[in-house]
Amino acid sequence: MRELGKVFDRVADAYDAARPTYPDELFQALSEVSGVDLDGATAVDVGAGTGILTRALRARGSRVVAVDPGAEMLARLRSRAGSGGTAAVLADGNALPLAGGVADLVTYAQSWHWLDPVASIAEARRVLRPGGAIAGCWNLAHAAQAGWLAAYEERLARSCPTYWGPALEEWSVPPIAAAFEVVAERWIPWTRLVRVEDFLLDLRSHSYMAALSAGAADELVERQRAELTREFPGGVLSVPMRVYLAVGR
Ligand SMILES: C[S@@+](CC[C@H](N)C(=O)[O-])C[C@H]1O[C@@H](n2cnc3c(N)ncnc32)[C@H](O)[C@@H]1O
Repeated sequence: MRELGKVFDRVADAYDAARPTYPDELFQALSEVSGVDLDGATAVDVGAGTGILTRALRARGSRVVAVDPGAEMLARLRSRAGSGGTAAVLADGNALPLAGGVADLVTYAQSWHWLDPVASIAEARRVLRPGGAIAGCWNLAHAAQAGWLAAYEERLARSCPTYWGPALEEWSVPPIAAAFEVVAERWIPWTRLVRVEDFLLDLRSHSYMAALSAGAADELVERQRAELTREFPGGVLSVPMRVYLAVGR
């Protein structure tokens, strides 16, 4: 289990409080593209974290096995209402402690890039039933759609040595599609309305922020707050977002 994966344990409260959920259209697209009816399906949600995708799958009638190596992240998932019908397993997604052929879906919601690209997909294939599907998705700020957002990302790129995002020329979505035999990809746009303070708490839940010293993180948050408040004096941001979804078998 890579230690890196545990970086989120340090920011589990901020993650749980402030990361956005996924739009309805993601689940419609997932069902349509995978051919799996979410209602009654068994899903293994790998890198489930605090359970954002897990709960959304549960709400649509899936039974979910949530797998994550982060004890703090999983504790948030377990303590949330709506986690009934969910088994939470502290484990490495590269070596799933599950029998073969048990799942209709294996999902990686903004998590696959933390795993071994080969071992993870071999494990996903092993636990899937025939006809099952593997899905990766990432909920991304669409910086090209708003000047203020591009500037915000550029400030992050300048201040965070481990930043990985749209302000970098070489940035792209994780190459999960290349790991599949059959793949369908979708881009799903949506708009996030969020208070500045919640957006800044969300910022603190990113791995590149968790890698900074406390002082450097505080200073960067202050700078971002000043810029965002100037841009949105009403205190509510309208953030252009898009979900990247890749589904394979
Ligand atoms: C960005 S969070 C995504 C959490 C959640 N799926 C969501 O949509 O918000 C990435 C998660 O991947 C987990 N992770 C890292 N390495 C992992 C591994 N080897 N196996 C399974 N999960 C891992 C981290 O602990 C973290 O909870």
